[in-house]
Amino acid sequence: MIDIHLSHSATALPLYQQIEQQISWQVIKGRLNYGEYLPPSRELARQLRVSRGSVVRAYEALCMKEYCHSHTGRGTMVIYREKPNASPPDPVTSLSSQLPHAVDKFLPGGLSLLPSHASTAHLPVSEFRQAFNRVLRYPDRLNHFGESAGNLELRQLICDQILPSRGISASPHEVLIVPGSQYGSLLLAMTVRQERTCFHFGEPGYLEFARNFSRFGYGLQSHRMDAEGIDISGFRPASKDILYLMPEHHFPQCITLSDARRSEIIQLACQKKVLLLEDDYDSEFYFDKVPHPALRSTAAAAQVIYMGTFSKVLFNNVRLGYLVADRHLVQQMAALHWSLSRGTSGLLQQWVAELLKNGIYSRHLRRMRMVYRHKRDDMVNLVRKYLPDAKFTVPPGGLQLYVRFIQPGKTHQIYNWLTSNNIQVADTGNYTFDTNAKSDFIVIGFANIDVNECETVLQRINQTLYSVSDRL
Ligand SMILES: Cc1ncc(COP(=O)(O)O)c(C=O)c1O
Repeated sequence: MIDIHLSHSATALPLYQQIEQQISWQVIKGRLNYGEYLPPSRELARQLRVSRGSVVRAYEALCMKEYCHSHTGRGTMVIYREKPNASPPDPVTSLSSQLPHAVDKFLPGGLSLLPSHASTAHLPVSEFRQAFNRVLRYPDRLNHFGESAGNLELRQLICDQILPSRGISASPHEVLIVPGSQYGSLLLAMTVRQERTCFHFGEPGYLEFARNFSRFGYGLQSHRMDAEGIDISGFRPASKDILYLMPEHHFPQCITLSDARRSEIIQLACQKKVLLLEDDYDSEFYFDKVPHPALRSTAAAAQVIYMGTFSKVLFNNVRLGYLVADRHLVQQMAALHWSLSRGTSGLLQQWVAELLKNGIYSRHLRRMRMVYRHKRDDMVNLVRKYLPDAKFTVPPGGLQLYVRFIQPGKTHQIYNWLTSNNIQVADTGNYTFDTNAKSDFIVIGFANIDVNECETVLQRINQTLYSVSDRL
């Protein structure tokens, strides 16, 4: 008899996904071995008191992910075999700051603690499908590129439904739709390089945009981070400078820019004409308070390029984001975007416009805020329980915990343990250019985790890596 425990709470995963995840977990852990047959779907459905459809769907998913194979008439057999042990990368020396690109591998069934992964388990798939079908009702539109700055309806919907919650009032002509903020940062780098030459950023931090600007010949200048956000005390601002900020939630430390720093930065922008690049990648997910209004809504608005993304509310691979800037700059970037790729996928834009128009997006966001809040609280409790020397601040929002350890060497041990157990975890070397810097933290992305699975993992870490006196 397979040991499966289902949760029927409001925020739990759909039953078929819980079944699929628990079976795949047992396969990975060697509790179900190559060649073994899963119980017939009818029998498991009876045992779990769920509909047979849920079990069939779970089995289909297991086959799709190549854990199992279904033989007509014989049943569903486990076909997963453990790969020989690869030595885990070293978080301190495997710095990938020099890499031209990183590959986000799909590890079938492995638990992902990557902070960039939104939960795909709670996506309203049938509403997504209906919205997509509505787009396909008008196939004529599929041959037209439309405006290079983006689908006008989508830009209007962003102005009406998304930007006001950040205090931003914009017209669609000030909005540029891009295939993700990464791409948006490249367009900006290419467009303003006559006037701007130096890119300032906080380190450790999210360095992908700095890498993009350096590709186009910009000088890079890093600034220290402290509890108030980026420390600009050593900054001698000039009008050739771009200052990159994640004001609500500097990644990965989850630092919110203090009011004092915020005013200082607004002054820099107004008086010294520093251009601010505001990366507002996850402020939709604030749980305990409302985020500050965006810098783009302040007196410095004219000096701010605002960036938003659909990667967190929908999913990472949707590749859709938007920039808000003055209309002249939007036109320039749109012209470049047209030359590079004939604009952003029209099909995708129409689909997301459908999600916004029909309230699917806002319902999903409201639900996910609740789901993520629960996950954050569960994760905080688990980390406190099983990693007794972990030091962290409970973030008011966002989708990750930034955790340090009191015991020397513990970060390294935990990182190695996770990677050698098929658990995806961010390489913290990516957050600094300093190849000698010691990464003494771990970033735990909790959006896409299954809490039960995570508890089992942390329990095992507790038993393996903590001495008897530290243990529960
Ligand atoms: C700090 C930060 N900015 C921006 C992004 C979004 O990038 P994109 O819209 O290209 O997915 C991410 C995604 O993980 C991020 O972590």
